[in-house]
Amino acid sequence: MKENYKAWNINIDGFPKEGSIVEQLKFLINFAILAPSSHNSQPWAFTVSEQGITILPEEGRALRESDNNKRQQFISMGCALENIIIAADYFGYTGAITYHLDGVSNARIDVRFSKQQKTGDLRRDPEHLATCITKRRTNRGNYDMSKMLEGKVVQAIRNFSTSQISVFITGDTEIKRRVTETILVATDDAMRSADFRQELAKYITPSITSSPIGMPGNTIGAPFLFSFILSTLIRKMPPGAAQRNQLRTLLEKTPFFLLIATPGDTREEWIKTGQVYQRIALLAEQNRLATHPLAAAIQIGNHYIDLAKIFDTNLRPQFFCRIGYPTKEVPHSPRLTSGKVTLAIP
Ligand SMILES: Cc1cc2nc3c(=O)[nH]c(=O)nc-3n(C[C@H](O)[C@H](O)[C@H](O)COP(=O)(O)O)c2cc1C
Repeated sequence: MKENYKAWNINIDGFPKEGSIVEQLKFLINFAILAPSSHNSQPWAFTVSEQGITILPEEGRALRESDNNKRQQFISMGCALENIIIAADYFGYTGAITYHLDGVSNARIDVRFSKQQKTGDLRRDPEHLATCITKRRTNRGNYDMSKMLEGKVVQAIRNFSTSQISVFITGDTEIKRRVTETILVATDDAMRSADFRQELAKYITPSITSSPIGMPGNTIGAPFLFSFILSTLIRKMPPGAAQRNQLRTLLEKTPFFLLIATPGDTREEWIKTGQVYQRIALLAEQNRLATHPLAAAIQIGNHYIDLAKIFDTNLRPQFFCRIGYPTKEVPHSPRLTSGKVTLAIP
């Protein structure tokens, strides 16, 4: 296996039960780094001590053009955080989270761990969400329109709503039609910006790549040879009618759309949005469903206002994705190893 894909190869039973607390927490970072992130930029860093794990935004991997207010970065950090909480639970630890997000330059999230007092059968649960972390991947392909989501899965997804986060999921044809139009316009708006394309192009790599960051062509549906020129094409010119139609077809080949929205628009709400999305993505994986985030209508211009209207909510849309049964498997994308994103404590 190539170096940049090795992170996916975790032996889940390799948890250092007899090791020090620092060794055990370092093992959890292996799960954190498999989280999704915008452009697969992996804009996070971690420190590990006997007290716990701290997650920090990594400015060197932030996306300045597509994410100038850092919403996508903090949502991505929330996904990584949730992987830590889920993996810790699998190994018998409860993670307590404190969000320190007010400072401009020193935002951080602290997780402290306590051992669960489990009684009875202590064997690990083979159905636990943690076992889905290494299987999950974004699937940008068509989904099977003849297979709807089961009512109990839809309900389980809606149940992630709390007083601070609302999860909307819909298969309604008219709502989906209006959302599709909004996403198409938002994507056009994003792609018209040469700066946006310049940044995106840096994260599109050929299908064969040694880069630990970014989206290889085979994860975005590009044919093998085409994947070698895709980055240059994106940089040089906005996509045309053919690509627009491709996106329209993709959205039409989607049985359900999912939106996460919050009362305010703070970093803490962005992190919590990422946490909820990651749980949904893993629940989807557990049920052989796939998800595919699309950030343009959330992040570009005022299209989020249209999304809110279509979903009939006063809340601020934070995250949108497609969800359904995929018609094809897709490969994983590469990752920086946990050693590369775990910083020494100063
Ligand atoms: C906050 C966030 C925003 C994302 N936005 C998009 C998007 O607009 N379009 C897209 O195709 N994928 C999007 N993705 C998916 C990422 O590109 C994907 O997670 C990343 O390339 C890593 O691949 P993986 O999820 O298969 O591990 C987004 C993911 C996150 C967490």
